[in-house]
Amino acid sequence: MENTEFKNLILQGIPDELPQPKPYDPNVNHAPKRKDILSKEEKKLAIRNALRYFPAKHHAVLAKEFAQELKQYGRIYMYRFRPDYKIYARPIGEYPAQTPQTAAIMLMIQNNLDEAVAQHPHELIIYGGNGAIFQNWAQYLLTMKYLATMTDHQTLVMYSGHPLGLFPSHPEAPRVVVTNGMVVPNYSSPDHWEKFNALGVSQYGQMTAGSYMYIGPQGIVHGTTITIMNASRKISRKNAGSEMKLFVSSGLGGMSGAQPKAGNIAGVVSLVAEINPKAAYKRFNQGWVDEVIDDVDKAIQTALYWKEKGQPHSIAYLGNVVDLWERLANNDIHVDIGSDQTSLHNPFAGGYYPVGLSFEESQEMMVRQPELFKEKVQASLRRQVAAINKIASKGMYFFDYGNAFLLESGRAGADIFDARDNFIYPSYVQDIMGPLYFDYGFGPFRWVCTSGDPKDLDKTDQIAGDIFEELLKDAVDEIQQQLKDNLVWIRQAKANKLVVGSQARILYADAEGRIRISTAFNRAIASGEISAPIVLGRDHHDVSGTDSPFRETSNIYDGSSFTADMAVQNMVGDAIRGATWVSLHNGGGVGWGEAINGGFGLVLDGSNEAQRRLQSMLFWDVNNGIARRSWARNHGAMYTLQRTMQQEPLLKVTFPNLVDDQLLEKLDI
Ligand SMILES: NC(=O)c1ccc[n+]([C@@H]2O[C@H](COP(=O)([O-])OP(=O)(O)OC[C@H]3O[C@@H](n4cnc5c(N)ncnc54)[C@H](O)[C@@H]3O)[C@@H](O)[C@H]2O)c1
Repeated sequence: MENTEFKNLILQGIPDELPQPKPYDPNVNHAPKRKDILSKEEKKLAIRNALRYFPAKHHAVLAKEFAQELKQYGRIYMYRFRPDYKIYARPIGEYPAQTPQTAAIMLMIQNNLDEAVAQHPHELIIYGGNGAIFQNWAQYLLTMKYLATMTDHQTLVMYSGHPLGLFPSHPEAPRVVVTNGMVVPNYSSPDHWEKFNALGVSQYGQMTAGSYMYIGPQGIVHGTTITIMNASRKISRKNAGSEMKLFVSSGLGGMSGAQPKAGNIAGVVSLVAEINPKAAYKRFNQGWVDEVIDDVDKAIQTALYWKEKGQPHSIAYLGNVVDLWERLANNDIHVDIGSDQTSLHNPFAGGYYPVGLSFEESQEMMVRQPELFKEKVQASLRRQVAAINKIASKGMYFFDYGNAFLLESGRAGADIFDARDNFIYPSYVQDIMGPLYFDYGFGPFRWVCTSGDPKDLDKTDQIAGDIFEELLKDAVDEIQQQLKDNLVWIRQAKANKLVVGSQARILYADAEGRIRISTAFNRAIASGEISAPIVLGRDHHDVSGTDSPFRETSNIYDGSSFTADMAVQNMVGDAIRGATWVSLHNGGGVGWGEAINGGFGLVLDGSNEAQRRLQSMLFWDVNNGIARRSWARNHGAMYTLQRTMQQEPLLKVTFPNLVDDQLLEKLDI
């Protein structure tokens, strides 16, 4: 398709004439049918809501079609309106736009929806089973048209995928403000999501799905590599052994599929169970897992062979993870590191497949007999925990991987609590990400080269690596390891072929690293060394971006882990300091109602204005969370904050006074 034709189609928005209905494409991975949750009257409301996007002349045809979609899929996706052009991150110049900022946002939206990137592209689901960018195709078409026509005296307001409209603002303001799934707090149960989403009035934006910042699996490969490396170090220190480690987990889906690849980079043997053959073979064909084995004993024997050999290797066990854990427990096999990455943020609607049922039986039962299915999921979790406990009692280091495994196992009545009602296993944030990374300001900083030219990405890799080398020279001991691990990562990033979709890179950096790297990028754009603007962003899973008591803020111990002031403040603070777009979401990772998280995008165009914005915004974006973590008495954060206050006299943060434990012990209360 010619570029002019593409531009015209974007500018057209919702077409005046109805496009032809789209046949259902069986070659694409589709979202599972959603729960039939609406009453008859509510179904009429959902259809009335959907028809608001179209003139009355089309209502008779579309009402019938939408009723059918609702019946068949549990949602109205408006499949007919999915564009015929290929959706992917085009070079920035190919978008019709009034400003490079809005063109960059269009590029990021199209990257999320790229069939190579999105999990269920036709249902506008980007990852995690239900992480949506839009609820339906009309919202996509309208949003792209608004972005193409708006100026820098307007701000686009997005309510859960719905473009409310353009409002007059000013060039300093964000071009887009996104909220996803925000509800009055008492209406935040999983069934509320099912209902509001089916009505077409809310969506689960996950983290980077609804905020246009997903860069495919690379982000998660990096986070998982760091986690497995540090988990290995933890047990190596304990056992003083340097022999090859065996890592057992589950899930080869959107994010979980990073585990075997990360395991190979981190230098362990990984054995990962996956029940869905499509997911397992997708990773195998991509080269992200070395082999797929459907016999549980053979899978275990193969893992032990490579462990014995002392060589990193990854195996997908095609089957249920409970069968794998039970076989390992019954055969008394030593596992070094264990985790789980089924989609337990969405336990009863396709995120977790109970043992004893085939994949197809589960899919049938979750729709037709949801109560029975829930019982099966909970019984399966109890069995899984029993087997894990047996192996952990012999020395396995097990951690929760931010997928609500402990939370849902606890709710299922599994033996997962100690005498004080705390979980017996830590989350990866409590043990690794929190104390080693977030408390020191290190988090998943990322960037996208909008030229789409791999040479630009190479240049940025070079710049970022050189800056990390410089930072290492004067770094304090506390952050040496983090810098070293990330230096290795960035130097090997190209060779590891991590790009899927846009020319993007992720690197865990602290405030200083992020600002220095961005400053160098901005200069390189100004000098023409880098050929087009760069989008800066991050995963919401960061120092300040997310309040989530069982994940990002699980290492906050002053009782404030259930508050969400930090994430809300973060989004507002980014908006007033120059972000190009900001977002705030209910849910993300662990499930609807379980977290509040937000993020930003900042377009660097080589200007002095971009330099001013990046300095002010990135400093706040990291130090907000450090200040909160310091107030919660987290040692690393207190240390980092004091150093930062010495360097920046305008930063004046309330510092906690520590109390002698003995004083409290003596109190008669
Ligand atoms: N790794 C991280 O740092 C991180 C970060 C954010 C979120 N998460 C969480 O991890 C979870 C997984 O994310 P995802 O994007 O991979 O989701 P996904 O739904 O794409 O993948 C999960 C996979 O688990 C498989 N599965 C489910 N039950 C199973 C069972 N009993 N046995 C074997 N396989 C089973 C599914 O078939 C699916 O392929 C989510 O809850 C997500 O929120 C992890």
